[in-house]
Amino acid sequence: MKKIPLNKDIANDFPLLVKNKELIYADNAATTQKPEFVINTITNYYNSYNANVHRGVHSLSEKATDTFEEVRKTIAHFINAQSEEITYTYGTTHGINTLAFGFEHLLKKGDEIVISQMEHHANIVPWQEVCKNTGAILKTIPLTEEGRLDYEAAKEIITNKTKILSISHASNVLGTRNDVKALIDYAKSQNNNCLTFIDGAQEIAHGNVDVKNIGCDAYVFSAHKMFGPTGIGALYLKKQHFNEIKPFMFGGSMIEDVSIEKTTYAKGFHKLEAGTPNIAGVIGMGSAIEYILQFDENDIAKKLEELTQYFLDSIVELGDDFKLYGPKNSAMRNPIFSFTIGNIHPQDLTQFLDEYNIAVRSGHHCAIPLHKQLGIIGTTRISLTVYNTKEEIDKIIKALKEIKELFQAQ
Ligand code: ALA
Repeated sequence: MKKIPLNKDIANDFPLLVKNKELIYADNAATTQKPEFVINTITNYYNSYNANVHRGVHSLSEKATDTFEEVRKTIAHFINAQSEEITYTYGTTHGINTLAFGFEHLLKKGDEIVISQMEHHANIVPWQEVCKNTGAILKTIPLTEEGRLDYEAAKEIITNKTKILSISHASNVLGTRNDVKALIDYAKSQNNNCLTFIDGAQEIAHGNVDVKNIGCDAYVFSAHKMFGPTGIGALYLKKQHFNEIKPFMFGGSMIEDVSIEKTTYAKGFHKLEAGTPNIAGVIGMGSAIEYILQFDENDIAKKLEELTQYFLDSIVELGDDFKLYGPKNSAMRNPIFSFTIGNIHPQDLTQFLDEYNIAVRSGHHCAIPLHKQLGIIGTTRISLTVYNTKEEIDKIIKALKEIKELFQAQ
């Protein structure tokens, strides 16, 4: 397929950005804006072929089912998997819960689960519950001063007792991109049966994920962080694990046969998809992937690295009070910048930026253990994506300078 250039006018694809020319939307790690193409695809489903899937033999239901199932192929193509390895979820959190409670029965007292200090709560709390239920032990890979995973320490922590390794592809706070392939290779060298799961929420939008190359057993992500709708996502699970994984949600669609005495479950991904799914969400997720696939993944990587480098160069103007957490090397990180300025409360900073029409997030970003390790209550976070520009970074830096001066003058 011929790719289209990733030029700076790409913001014109996003109705909300077109309507709000003055807005600088820099909260993309929380959720991205949605292109017209995606919005139209969802509207068209409701306007033209709204019906339940897998249930009716009428034409509308067939059209809805075909389109819904076609998205499984689109996702598989997008991440280099097979369509029967794709399960629809409500998002990354649901995906990790599906893995945690689906494989819990394989764990026993003393087994070890390894995560990292930079994980989002979605990749911490389910494992704590699994540990409570099974007596397994939760271990964490620490971070270096620079905010990268400590790969040397990881070699001490990952052992033949490690039954599950669950790591984020990129941090939603530090921006750090993790060498998940190296960690997985190491975990498998210690225990070939170790299950390796990747939280791809902050990497998937870049169109560069190849699950076969990474070598993970599972990979989860949400559509809303890659220009798709909220409340929908996908779980890639290697085909060989579908017999082992147990469903943790039960009801319609996931059964093979039901009597009052007992139920047998459907095979493959069907047993993990109980209830009427988010059909419009799935169809919207498919169109978000089509939107990303218009661009060359190398162009996306180049643009994001340029924005990252430009931001890293520009923050010098903010002086020593400006403390950025995470790597200073643009090749090692995504354009997610969490920072503090002197003693200014992150929430105040975020509210002042809002007055400049700059949308960012503040707080712990669902990563309290990371903030505790950094010794801070929270940060302000600027997160950029392909529709952001260097001109916007200039405006953000100018606003931060003015806000800083205002606080200094008080
Ligand atoms: N997980 C999302 C974030 O980091 C909501 O903002």
